[in-house]
Amino acid sequence: MSDKVLSQFTPTVHDDGAVDTSRILKFGIIGTGWIAESYIESIVKMPDVKIIAAADLIEGKAEKFFNRYGITGVHLYSSHKEMLDAETDLDAVCVCTYNRTHAECAIYALNKGVNVLLEKPMTVTLDEAADVVRAEKASGKLLSLGFQPRMDDNMQMIKKIVDSGELGKVYYIQTGGGRRCGIPNSTFIEDKTAGIGALGDIGCYSLDMVLNAVGYPKPLTISGYKSAYFGPNPKYNNPTDAPRFEVDDFAAAFIRLEGDIILDFRIAWAMHIDTTGDTILLGTEGALRIPSTECWNGTVGGPMKLYRYVAGQQVEFEIPLYEQGDSFGGLFYKKLRSFADAIKTGGAAPVPSEQILINQAIIDGIVKSAELGREIEVRIPDLSLEAAVV
Ligand SMILES: NC(=O)c1ccc[n+]([C@@H]2O[C@H](COP(=O)([O-])OP(=O)(O)OC[C@H]3O[C@@H](n4cnc5c(N)ncnc54)[C@H](O)[C@@H]3O)[C@@H](O)[C@H]2O)c1
Repeated sequence: MSDKVLSQFTPTVHDDGAVDTSRILKFGIIGTGWIAESYIESIVKMPDVKIIAAADLIEGKAEKFFNRYGITGVHLYSSHKEMLDAETDLDAVCVCTYNRTHAECAIYALNKGVNVLLEKPMTVTLDEAADVVRAEKASGKLLSLGFQPRMDDNMQMIKKIVDSGELGKVYYIQTGGGRRCGIPNSTFIEDKTAGIGALGDIGCYSLDMVLNAVGYPKPLTISGYKSAYFGPNPKYNNPTDAPRFEVDDFAAAFIRLEGDIILDFRIAWAMHIDTTGDTILLGTEGALRIPSTECWNGTVGGPMKLYRYVAGQQVEFEIPLYEQGDSFGGLFYKKLRSFADAIKTGGAAPVPSEQILINQAIIDGIVKSAELGREIEVRIPDLSLEAAVV
């Protein structure tokens, strides 16, 4: 391996440095549910960000939320529209609503000239995601997506290895995974709130882990499958949640990507096995094995292995793990910090929409192919402003 690659294995020393407080950013939160807690816990550590407004559709929920954290003086509203119509001084909003309202909240905020940090999955459908990107383009504002595993050193190492050229040209990727028993409840399981299940909840992270590494090539065709054999079954799910379970708990797909790459993907909230296997990337010069991972937490399941052919020998290198690896909270903080910094410096979105639109195109394609029961061709929508639905 080259020195350039070896030097990347040295853990980075995190030094956020002194935060510039000469400009205080005014943030709003849309949706004060479970994930908004992780937002607040990060934002209170940021001396240059102040929450001035929040909205939730459920009466009294936002008030209780801020009382729990002892935070006072936040203007509270009963919808994203009410909040964005009334608050004309917001620098940014964090969209922490369930999947079905991601698009409308993000678009409304962008149309008001407000920067947006949008939770994952980007949306439920590809058409919605395209509308969000058009609103972003028209607004000239910053839109970043809430994929905090991107902030993890071990996750970043995957991309560094691919970019180093050690694998040669990557032609086959196997990824995904999931849980033997890990079906969420709350607003994750009904069509009217979630729209998509394991596929959107944790599948989007597995896809991002590998697609980001290989430069987000566009999908050409998808043969997708989805099922729900566990969520609606009271034998495997809480009897009060099983009757209202309406989304997928397992999905799989064979995806042909631009650049002659095949992506073999599967994801589960529940199944009768502990893992569907490791993530592997096969290249013309080498291969990478990423032990079965909970990539939604930014964790890889153990040291990665790089397989090469050196001086006529098959050799394997272990990639040391970054031991100081951040906790979920640490990654969340970095997600918020990088978004705030990009607003202040006019920098690029830490997790850009043009990439995550491709992630959404694959999710959407798997759903469509599964429903049709055959392979489909993927068409990425025209993102020009002229194509926007008024
Ligand atoms: N990044 C992560 O690690 C992570 C983890 C969990 C959830 N999430 C994502 O966060 C999102 C929210 O998940 P959650 O578990 O917090 O859901 P939740 O149901 O606990 O909270 C969502 C809240 O949004 C409110 N809401 C919906 N539409 C609204 C609107 N138009 N205006 C104002 N409020 C509105 C709802 O009333 C609800 O209180 C989901 O999309 C999920 O995928 C991300």
